[in-house]
Amino acid sequence: MAKNKTIYRCQACGAVTVKWLGRCPDCGQWNTLTEERAQEKGRVTVSSGPSEPLLLKEIQYQQDKRLTTGIGELDRVLGGGVVSGSLVLIGGDPGVGKSTLLLQAINGFLKTAGGRGLYVSGEESAQQIKLRAERLGIDSENLLVLSETVLENLILRAEELSPQMLIVDSIQTVYTVELSSAPGTVGQVRECSYRLMNYAKKYNVPTFIIGHVTKEGALAGPRVLEHIVDTVLYFEGERSSSFRILRAVKNRFGSTNEIGVFEMTDRGLKEISNPSELFIQNSSRDEPGTVYTATIEGTRPIIVEIQALVSPTVFGMPRRTSIGIDYQRVNLLIAVLEKIGGVPLGMSDVYLNVVGGLRVLETAVDLPVLLSITSSFRDVPIDSKTVVFGEVGLTGEIRLVSQIDVRLKEAQKIGFKRAVVPVEALNRVGSSLNIELVGVRDISEALEVSFGR
Ligand code: TYD
Ligand code: MG
Repeated sequence: MAKNKTIYRCQACGAVTVKWLGRCPDCGQWNTLTEERAQEKGRVTVSSGPSEPLLLKEIQYQQDKRLTTGIGELDRVLGGGVVSGSLVLIGGDPGVGKSTLLLQAINGFLKTAGGRGLYVSGEESAQQIKLRAERLGIDSENLLVLSETVLENLILRAEELSPQMLIVDSIQTVYTVELSSAPGTVGQVRECSYRLMNYAKKYNVPTFIIGHVTKEGALAGPRVLEHIVDTVLYFEGERSSSFRILRAVKNRFGSTNEIGVFEMTDRGLKEISNPSELFIQNSSRDEPGTVYTATIEGTRPIIVEIQALVSPTVFGMPRRTSIGIDYQRVNLLIAVLEKIGGVPLGMSDVYLNVVGGLRVLETAVDLPVLLSITSSFRDVPIDSKTVVFGEVGLTGEIRLVSQIDVRLKEAQKIGFKRAVVPVEALNRVGSSLNIELVGVRDISEALEVSFGR
C-alpha cells in the first residue's frame, strides 16, 4: 500500500498533517483534525476553458421526476415525492422510528415504481429486519436486504443489483477501507456520503441514508453531512409519546416549511392527516389550567392543549418546569404575569406541559401560557370552547401574530366557538368566519375576558 493515502485536515484553519494530532500545529485548536483521502496527483485539472454565462430566461430545464413513497406525509415533506437520483438524509434520535419509516417507504415505493429495492443495514441482522417487516405487514416481493458495513462492498452489490431505491441504515455504521479512522467519525461519514452521492447521481437512484443525532443534537460532527446531501429531514418525537414529526431542514427540491405527522403504533407508523384531532381528544371538559391554542407548524395549523399546574412551593425556591415550551420564555412570561398582571407566583411552583409531546416554539403561545397559569393559580377553568393565541410583550401588551385566518379557520373546523386574540387581529380576518372574536390589548384585558376580573 502506498504511504500517505490519507491526510488529516484541520477543520478550523485547513492545515494538513500526515498523522493525527490532538491539537492543530498551525492554529492551535484542539480536536479539529479529521481524516480524509489524499487527493491523487492530477485529479484537480484545469478545465478546458472558462464556461459561458447564460441568460437566465434562456436556461432550459427538465421537471424533476418525482416518485411516490406511498406515504403521503413523507411525500409532502420531500416536496411532492422523492426525486430520482437524490440523496436524502433522515436524522433523528435512536429509537424514534427512522428504520421503521424507511422500511415502510421502500415497500410503498416498490408498489408503484416496480423493480427491486435494496435495504442495507449495518445496525440489524437480516433476521431482525424480517421480524420488523412482518410486524409492519411488508409484503413487497422485490425487497432485498443486505447486512453490510463496508462501503465498497455495499456499492459493488448495489451496482450488481441495480435497485430502484437504496436505503443505507445507518451512515454511522458504514465505513470505507480507504480511511483508517473508525466508523462514525467525521472523516468516514463525510467520505461515505460523498460516495453514496456519486452513486445516486450516476445511476439516478433515489438514495436514503439514516443518520443518528449525536448528543449535541447535530448530525455526526458539526453538520458535516448537511451540505453534501440534497435533502435533510429530521424525525422528532418524545420517547414518552407515540406522536412523531418529520421536518425538512434542507431541501434542494422543495420547501422546508412542510411537516409530516405520524403516530407510532404496534403496526408501525400511521399517518396523521388531521393533527389537531390527535392533540385534543377530551376537549369537552372545563378544567382549571387547560387552555387551547392554535399554533402553526410549517404551513399547517394545529390546535394544541396547554396545561399548567400551579401549586404552593414547599421548599423556599419555587420550581418552574416546562415541557414543550421554551423554559426561558416561560420564566419571562411568569415575570410579566406577576409584575403587570398582578398574579403573585413567588410562592408557587409552576409546571407547564403541551399535551401530546409537541414542541411549540412560536410566540403565539405566550397568551395561552399566561392564561393557563392564571387559571390553575385561581382554580378557575377557562371555557373549553375558547381558543387563545397572541404574543405577550414585556410591558404586558398583546401583540399580533402571523396567519390569523389560518388559525381561526382550523379552530372553527374543530368546533371552537370563541377566540381570544390580539386586538389588531380583528381587522385582519375575513368575514366568512363563524367564530366569536374577542380582541384584547393587554394582559389585564385578557384576564378580564377570561376570568371576569
Ligand atoms: P426504529 O425504527 O428501530 O427506530 P430508529 O431506527 O430510529 O432507531 O423504531 C424503534 C422503536 O419503534 C422501538 O422502540 C419500537 C417502536 N416500534 C413500534 O412501536 N411499532 C412498530 O411497529 C415498530 C416496528 C417499532
Ligand atoms: Mg434503526
